[in-house]
Amino acid sequence: TIHPVLLCGGSGTRLWPLSRKSYPKQFVRLMGEESLFQASAKRLSGHGFAAPSVITGADFRFVVIEQLAALQIAPADILIEPCARNTAAAICAGALVLEARKPGALMLVAPSDHVISDAGAFRAAVKAAAPAAEAGQLVTFGIRPDRPETGYGWLELSEAPDAEFSATPQPLKSFVEKPDLAKAEALLQDGMHLWNAGIFLFSTTTILKAFARYAPDTLAQVRGAVAGAVRDLGFTRLAPAPWKGLEDISIDYAVMERADNLSVVPYGGAWSDLGDWQAVWREQKPDENGIVTAGAATAIDCKESLLQSTSEAQQLVGIGLEDIIAVAMPDAVLVAHKSRAQDVKKAVAELKAKG
Ligand code: GDD
Ligand code: MG
Repeated sequence: TIHPVLLCGGSGTRLWPLSRKSYPKQFVRLMGEESLFQASAKRLSGHGFAAPSVITGADFRFVVIEQLAALQIAPADILIEPCARNTAAAICAGALVLEARKPGALMLVAPSDHVISDAGAFRAAVKAAAPAAEAGQLVTFGIRPDRPETGYGWLELSEAPDAEFSATPQPLKSFVEKPDLAKAEALLQDGMHLWNAGIFLFSTTTILKAFARYAPDTLAQVRGAVAGAVRDLGFTRLAPAPWKGLEDISIDYAVMERADNLSVVPYGGAWSDLGDWQAVWREQKPDENGIVTAGAATAIDCKESLLQSTSEAQQLVGIGLEDIIAVAMPDAVLVAHKSRAQDVKKAVAELKAKG
């Protein structure tokens, strides 16, 4: 059996003002009836998967319970982080807790903010990865790249993928996290790189060995936080003192870029990290003029733009716009050039500094 571990801790600042620190994007109904978190949990429920664990912050514990209950999913565990310390720490905690419950178990690390429309094909790819994970590999999932994306990790293949892009595991040559644009352009050109989907399958034994080798301080501190954890109303609260001192580093930099036992399973289905407004625009299928409107929004003679109002009481109208993101909420309005979508996090930092 495969044990899903859902990461649910980022605050999604690039999707401000819809995504807030107090209610991040994975819990918001961004598109459709379910939140991205619910869709992620549902995709990995039943079908031979063990009950999922969730790793999140204290502020979100009740949203997690409520959104899982609405789907009748009973979690195996909900780990509460005293504060966000990025994915290396979160994954290490998930691995230690799972290892204590099921030594050597296969653990599927899944972000809770992705859009993966073909759940069946995705589960088949995960199952295809199991033998490699059993054999001691850190298995990644590779997406065919179509642009020089600098916000993703890139996976260097040893062999070109087959014509069907079938979900067969192969060893990876290297892992490059978030290259600069010139590098990303080169990686796109050479045809031997895929995007890292940010989803990983490995055994607890394999990942804990990797932490011992590449991030021993993280492992030691997270061990302390797990040893001092308190069980409370079905939550496992990690001990704050060792946790606060943890380095803020992602699993990609802490482990994946350094490891020599990486494999990849190509995934040919639709996949998107709804990381910023440009991705939301792209995913909502712009019309022939490149326009997406949502809620009480109207576009007149606009091109390549997203106009979204989340309040029926607030009409948003764009006239003659091109390459613009406009998002109106009752208490905040964002107007940005579409090419600057990644910089929305700077706005959030600036507002925070202003108090
Ligand atoms: N519990 C917890 N705690 N979860 C966290 C934390 C944390 O401190 N920080 C981030 N997460 C969760 C996020 O909510 C998200 O679901 C997932 O971990 C990945 O974090 P992101 O911050 O979204 O990472 P990224 O998108 O910049 O990069 C990763 O994903 C890309 C694909 O989407 C990397 O793995 C890239 O290599 C990859 O291409
Ligand atoms: Mg992401």
